[in-house]
Amino acid sequence: MQVVVLNGTNLDVLARRDPAVYGGISLSELETRIYEWASALGCHVRCRQTNHEGEYVEWCHDALDWADGVIVNPGAWTHYSYAIRDALELLSAPIVEVHLSNIEEREEWRRTSVIAELAARRVLGKGPEGYREALQFLVERVGSAR
Ligand code: DQA
Repeated sequence: MQVVVLNGTNLDVLARRDPAVYGGISLSELETRIYEWASALGCHVRCRQTNHEGEYVEWCHDALDWADGVIVNPGAWTHYSYAIRDALELLSAPIVEVHLSNIEEREEWRRTSVIAELAARRVLGKGPEGYREALQFLVERVGSAR
């Protein structure tokens, strides 16, 4: 089972963002945890991060060819990028939308997610653990479909 984790804009500077919201963890620490959780769950994961929307779109296209499950945290693009939404819509593999913070309990503009209805599951406000929950969900979902 192959999973791709697509982290979007400003997640490269996660450690510098408000620790009260994002917990002070760095992207590389987060990715290390994701790789450990994936290996414990017996799936292969590839973590990617970009600040470039077009690159993110191309990674969604790339996932079409090989990913059995896709975990997305597009950062602020979540709230307005129809380009990313259209790219995600191409996928038949299940999508899990993850946000470290609870976007439904922050500013009004963060409550809109243009990708929400494409997600088989949404995990909000659980910090890094949200990615573990997403992996677990995909392992169960994809495993039971086989
Ligand atoms: C985020 C929430 C977004 O609103 C924000 O723009 C981010 C991170 C999260 O993981 O909580 O960059 O996606």
